[in-house]
Amino acid sequence: MDSIVIKGGKRLEGTVKVSGAKNAALPLLASSLLAEGASTFRNVPELADIATMGKLLSSMGCGFERGTGRKSTSITVTVPPAADLEPIAPYELVKTMRASVLVLGPLVARYGKARVSLPGGCAIGARPIDQHLMGLEKLGATISLEHGYVQAKARSRRLTGARINFDVATVTGTENLIMAAALAKGTTVLENAAREPEVEDLARSLNAMGAQIEGAGTDRIEIQGVDSLQPADHDVIPDRIEAGTFLVAAAITGGDVFVEGCVPDHLEVVIEKLREAGALIEARDGGVRVRGPKRLKAVDVKTQPFPGFPTDMQAQLMVAMAVAEGSSVVTENVFENRYMHVQELSRMGANIAVDGKTAIVKGSARLSGAPVMATDLRASASLVLAGLCAEGTTTVQRVYHLDRGYQRIEKKLRALGAEIRRVKA
Ligand code: EPU
Repeated sequence: MDSIVIKGGKRLEGTVKVSGAKNAALPLLASSLLAEGASTFRNVPELADIATMGKLLSSMGCGFERGTGRKSTSITVTVPPAADLEPIAPYELVKTMRASVLVLGPLVARYGKARVSLPGGCAIGARPIDQHLMGLEKLGATISLEHGYVQAKARSRRLTGARINFDVATVTGTENLIMAAALAKGTTVLENAAREPEVEDLARSLNAMGAQIEGAGTDRIEIQGVDSLQPADHDVIPDRIEAGTFLVAAAITGGDVFVEGCVPDHLEVVIEKLREAGALIEARDGGVRVRGPKRLKAVDVKTQPFPGFPTDMQAQLMVAMAVAEGSSVVTENVFENRYMHVQELSRMGANIAVDGKTAIVKGSARLSGAPVMATDLRASASLVLAGLCAEGTTTVQRVYHLDRGYQRIEKKLRALGAEIRRVKA
């Protein structure tokens, strides 16, 4: 297995370009199942999770092709006629990527049935899909669980619009139900819907395909079902979590970096928190410039669904707090088990005490490099950040987690002046 080796202490400087958003691209690729023919998406990042979605769509009978050369960020998914599609998501693929569950909504809507493996537990908590299933039942699907698979079947030829009130705001749950409702008969109203920019991006693409969706980006989404949709042709939004990770990288190294493609509206609270901690952040044409102070100050952070502080930035912010002046309280409200990075950061000299969903971080002047590894994507990113500001050498193992969500992070950081390289196993 590859590892990433970092010699800490370099100040980051220059421009880094953000790739397309993984969590926008995944539902968009799944949404191509809603229309026969060739859907094209541009600005799709080159990541392991995207390749997994490609394998999944291919296993069902779709074409999945990435452009080459300058078009390498585009992907075309070719969906065959309904009779030639196998609406099954096997365990082997779902177990490597929970987001595979995003094919459930489109499959039931267009093919009347689906067999999708249950994702099961994962490194960041139990992560049930009860809200996805509750919503599909309301839209007229019969759901049964057999041999570890969700078996969903539309009771009549088409799903039927309904009012669905989520108990928790779920991102992929909202996306699954928007896609299912897009082809249902009549009106669907989603209450307490997730407001993440990725949900909005999906709705934008679906509307261009001929869907009638209003209110995406708010907690009430109304969908008038239509009979059929055209294939998609869409540019994916930039990855706000990758962008946020670079903001922190610059802030903790006293750097001066322009994060090209960073959309300030997608990261308002993260930017606010970094400013409060002493970083200078300016929105510029086409991106955001960040300058780090000599040493950051401690700030408290609570994760919340969008527009709150994203859980996907909690581990990275914690690294900033681990080297900041003073003590901070970090509260993880979205997932129940998302502190796997703490033990590894402690091995690098961080002073962090976890009690339930709260972590008290006492800033220390420096971290010291060590061999570390993590079991989750964002936790791995936080270890890379820790390596950037630690004394000596840090080796981050199990890099496949990073490769699920960051496109060539070591190349991008090296271009900013970091001493970082990938060591092939
Ligand atoms: N939840 C339920 N029941 C459900 C669905 C969710 O109880 O049916 C709970 C979850 O257990 C969690 C909360 O609701 O406590 C929110 O989970 P959500 O469903 O919103 O998460 P998700 O859709 O599975 C997406 C991202 C995650 C990101 C979360 C939260 C994708 C593909 N994944 O997951 O991204 O952390 O939203 O913002 O969009 C990552 O990229 O590293 C990542 C984990």
